[in-house]
Amino acid sequence: MKLIIINGPNLNLLGIREKEIYGNKSFESCFENLSFKFPDCKLEFFQSNIEGEIINKLHEVGFSYDGIILNAAAYTHTSLAIADAVKAISSPVIEVHISNIFSREKIRHTSLIAPYCKGSISGFGLKSYELAIKSFL
Ligand code: DQA
Repeated sequence: MKLIIINGPNLNLLGIREKEIYGNKSFESCFENLSFKFPDCKLEFFQSNIEGEIINKLHEVGFSYDGIILNAAAYTHTSLAIADAVKAISSPVIEVHISNIFSREKIRHTSLIAPYCKGSISGFGLKSYELAIKSFL
């Protein structure tokens, strides 16, 4: 099974940024752990702070991969362009959030992407990514 995790803006700062919300682990160490836990899964990772790069990556992988795990970060709440890209591709997408977006500020309660995703996982810390992989398997 070929899966990719796509992380959006500021998620390159995991482990440094707002540790009380996002924890103290880097995504690189989380990814290493996931690759170890799911050896039968061909797992890739891409991060960008740039909306267009996320869209380009969705187009690149979105017709051939078995699944996409997307944490679009703040673009979740604002980007109609990323939502359109998710709608346009054929690979199933699971939306993931580290924090529980529904227990935070009102602006984070809305996801423009969610209607086009297979499902959404929010609030389980970095474990949210693991749950998304498990749901694909
Ligand atoms: C986030 C939640 C978003 O609201 C926020 O902008 C992020 C991270 C999460 O994983 O909890 O950057 O997607």
